[in-house]
Amino acid sequence: MLSEKVVEKIRKETEKYPTARAAIKSALRYAQEEHGWVTDTVVNDVAEVLKLEKIQVQEVATFYDLFYTQPVGRHQLRICTNISCMLRDSDSIIDHLKQRLGVGPGETTGDGRFTIFEVECLGACGGAPMMMVGNQYYENLDVERVDQILSELERGDE
Ligand code: FES
Repeated sequence: MLSEKVVEKIRKETEKYPTARAAIKSALRYAQEEHGWVTDTVVNDVAEVLKLEKIQVQEVATFYDLFYTQPVGRHQLRICTNISCMLRDSDSIIDHLKQRLGVGPGETTGDGRFTIFEVECLGACGGAPMMMVGNQYYENLDVERVDQILSELERGDE
């Protein structure tokens, strides 16, 4: 069930667009921020608020990989492995995360803290290799910097 606050934000968002369909992405973003992932109930609720068919919302939720249709960890580590990042050794970042966290891309640590995603170019090729955590970009990574970032995130959870 969406909170009244999120429903209000979605209603305000629809005022910016010519059609309700154009507001689906924003609506899902607000709903996901509140629920952590896009459940079936979230899809229904968003469709109801926007007065759209469920399938119209479902299509958007499953198309964009920024929407999670499965539960994810508190921190989502999105590591780019596209060409620039690959050439600057994003594989070592992925390997290091697998080793440190004990899970691979698409998986969540047992404590529910981290989910790793291997993603396509995030538009920060000049800072390759890079990863995105929440809305924050981390660039020019090496394994030491990754360890530092993970430790900061772990400390922030305590
Ligand atoms: S290739 Fe990694 S950000 Fe573009």
